[in-house]
Amino acid sequence: MAFPSHFLFLMFFTIFNIYRINSLPEEPYLTLDYYSSSCPSAQSIIRSEMECAVLSDPRNAAKILRLHFHDCFVQGCDGSVLLDDTITLEGEKKASPNVNSIDGFKLVDRIKNKLESECPGVVSCADLLTIAARDAVLLVGGPYWDVPVGRKDSKSASLTLAETNLPSANQDLVSLIAKFLYQGLSVTDMVALAGAHTIGMARCENFRERIYGDFPFTAEMTSFTETYLDSLKSICSDINKGDDNNIAAMDYFSANLFDNSFFQILLRGEGLLNSDQEMYSSLLGVQTRHLVQLYAEDPIAFFQQFSDSMVKMGNISNPDSFSDGEVRKNCRFVNT
Ligand code: HEM
Repeated sequence: MAFPSHFLFLMFFTIFNIYRINSLPEEPYLTLDYYSSSCPSAQSIIRSEMECAVLSDPRNAAKILRLHFHDCFVQGCDGSVLLDDTITLEGEKKASPNVNSIDGFKLVDRIKNKLESECPGVVSCADLLTIAARDAVLLVGGPYWDVPVGRKDSKSASLTLAETNLPSANQDLVSLIAKFLYQGLSVTDMVALAGAHTIGMARCENFRERIYGDFPFTAEMTSFTETYLDSLKSICSDINKGDDNNIAAMDYFSANLFDNSFFQILLRGEGLLNSDQEMYSSLLGVQTRHLVQLYAEDPIAFFQQFSDSMVKMGNISNPDSFSDGEVRKNCRFVNT
């Protein structure tokens, strides 16, 4: 039986629209002035707590920035990374990229307590983390950007997604790119965001393969580089002798300063993590190599792209939290 042409058109139109609605990127209902009347001091509370924390230990900046990244890559930026394990909820803290690695939870608690005493039940943990990450970067010399806010906190977490979505140090370039594309982030976003490694530390467990692997092949082995590699090897033995948690800076020039020296280190072939060096040295990385070169030469281009990409990453949303989310009272637990 032949269908009338208008019927076929209607069918096609309906199917197209169902598909389109389902595949539309989630509209993040985020605005710059979301708290301007409900909690006008939110930004300044977060800033002053971050100032104290970074002044007392600049590594706190790195910890908070990374927490935000690990939040956004798992169910969107919804504070899921902050949830503790309970009898009824399995958190993300035990996932392999997180365990013994992410930190900064006590600082988040401190900021949250201040926010709750000023404006109870108003500022979400996901927004707290997003603003704190921006302040972290600014306080160690990086760029400023405006942070759209209005996120809600999730009532769930996902250990499984934390295992699968978060990139790891020994992954190849193609898998790394795939993980960013999956989140709606481009190759340019990935390279710029990896510039976060201009601050902070990595554990031996994550750079052992690199320093006992292709490090001498990517780097020009000058006497300086020999000495650097030897010092890394003294921190991290080739087989685990209980030194998995020993740490080294990813940017040996200036680990407490947000600048573009991380990219200059990659140009020298001396990146600490395999994943970072791949962006410059992989034969498959024509585009990533150009970007590393650009950011190594032009700090303003890096700062501009980093800011844009941070906003983009911060806008990865959890559709469930928008409809069914909450403002947690304590970032570690869903409200009862
Ligand atoms: C390109 C993919 C990425 C990979 C494979 C990766 C991997 C890692 C690894 C293995 C560490 C060391 C963790 C440890 O040894 O305990 C680390 C640290 C860090 N990562 Fe990434 N990362 C990536 C992207 C990012 C992004 C997008 C950001 C933020 C925008 C970020 C921010 C940080 C910071 C700040 C640290 C230092 C944390 C500290 O000192 O405690 N990373 N990353």
